[in-house]
Amino acid sequence: GLKKKEVHVLCLGLDNSGKTTIINKLKPSNAQTQDIVPTIGFSIEKFKTSSLSFTVFDMSGQGRYRNLWEHYYKDCQAIIFVIDSSDKLRMVVAKEELDTLMNHPDLKHRRIPILFFANKMDLRDAVSSVKVSQLLMLENIKDKPWHICASDALKGEGLQEGVDWLQDQIQ
Ligand code: GTP
Ligand code: MG
Repeated sequence: GLKKKEVHVLCLGLDNSGKTTIINKLKPSNAQTQDIVPTIGFSIEKFKTSSLSFTVFDMSGQGRYRNLWEHYYKDCQAIIFVIDSSDKLRMVVAKEELDTLMNHPDLKHRRIPILFFANKMDLRDAVSSVKVSQLLMLENIKDKPWHICASDALKGEGLQEGVDWLQDQIQ
């Protein structure tokens, strides 16, 4: 059959935001794992959509591994940035990491799409995706297409909308 276009994506965000859970849910059910543990370093994952074949670098969000992220900026064609919408205390840390990556020379002048997942929407403490985008000041991003989706990675809600947007950006 037709070979799908290959796309390299970086999945970033603080530890415990739900990156690995999201990527796992995007795989076919027979390829999903049941027990998800904190990522050490990074993990390379693959999933397909109707027209694209995604290779995802699922990075650890733990502080001691965040210095690895920048080594993969050059080769990525899109970024998925995951936020724990219930973690109000660390929203400012997520914003700092986002600002740092947006200003990195390997990303700064590239129009690569950034998909934000305001994850853990099922939790009682979660703020809305509009509130997350305000706290992260996403309206300041002028040089890259971006989109934010509310998601519940445990149920898989909101993930398809995000990936559909990403696919449209990459066509
Ligand atoms: P690191 O690999 O350490 O950077 O973390 P991560 O961003 O990959 O987070 P991970 O996917 O390991 O999820 C962390 C915890 O959050 C796990 O216990 C998940 O089950 C839980 N979790 C992920 N998504 C959701 C969600 O949408 N809602 C709720 N309630 N829990 C979630
Ligand atoms: Mg992980």
